Amino acid sequence: MAQARLHFDRERLRAAIQQEYNDVATDPDKGFHFVVGRSLARRLSYSEEDLTGIPAGALESFAGVGNPFMLGHINAGSVVIDVGSGCGMDALIASHMVGAHGRVIGVEMTEGMRAKAIRNAGEMNASNVEFLEGWAEMLPLPDHSVDVAISNGVINLCPDKEAVFREIYRVLKPGGRMQIADILLEKPVPGSAKDLIHLWTQCVAGGLLEAEYLGIILGAGFREAEVVSSFEVFKDAPGEAAAARYGARGFNLRAIKP
Ligand SMILES: C[S@@+](CC[C@H](N)C(=O)[O-])C[C@H]1O[C@@H](n2cnc3c(N)ncnc32)[C@H](O)[C@@H]1O
Repeated sequence: MAQARLHFDRERLRAAIQQEYNDVATDPDKGFHFVVGRSLARRLSYSEEDLTGIPAGALESFAGVGNPFMLGHINAGSVVIDVGSGCGMDALIASHMVGAHGRVIGVEMTEGMRAKAIRNAGEMNASNVEFLEGWAEMLPLPDHSVDVAISNGVINLCPDKEAVFREIYRVLKPGGRMQIADILLEKPVPGSAKDLIHLWTQCVAGGLLEAEYLGIILGAGFREAEVVSSFEVFKDAPGEAAAARYGARGFNLRAIKP
């Protein structure tokens, strides 16, 4: 049941998500239903070492829900994809880890986010990272080309989660790792609320129960999938009450492509 049954046009949802995250890129202090920026990164246990050298423009528009770097070391020389790379904070942290012989590819559907990520990479002189326009459901990379796939706060925004995990599986090399952060719910969002676009854009309506989420990942072929940690990502945010209704929280998950 991964394809959410929605009673609105998926293009409308996509346009609303793009509008919301263009605002996160261009006006990060506007005030959102969720927390963004450096204080969020601290809450999600990013270390000062991770954040050193990351441009202010990447930090101020960070909108993750967990921390993919807590899930395993990324080796120098690795090829990393960041699915839904936003303003590039995670991709730029990964670019430090993979070094001159590695490569990081951010894939992002919202132009304001992608344009800002490119500027942030330029500011850092990071020549081993690129930001491509694209969709999580149709990644612009060849089969078996990636060592580690990261993603942070994105897959809940995708109604067709099966397609996203099929694509991540396809681009990973055998033995490749998925290290992602996303949204889990304690109670399912009922059909009536599932149709509220604003509940999707604030990263609640597209969350899943843990068993559903793991089922989709295993169904795509991944093994050793485990939820490793979770975060009270909505605490003290304007969207806290809506998130609490369904027990929405951020979480870190890892899995391996055999
Ligand atoms: C909550 S933000 C997180 C951004 C970034 N990962 C971070 O941690 O700051 C979600 C991002 O996912 C992007 N996104 C949502 N659905 C997507 C899709 N189907 N394909 C590509 N990007 C998508 C949005 O445009 C937005 O930039």
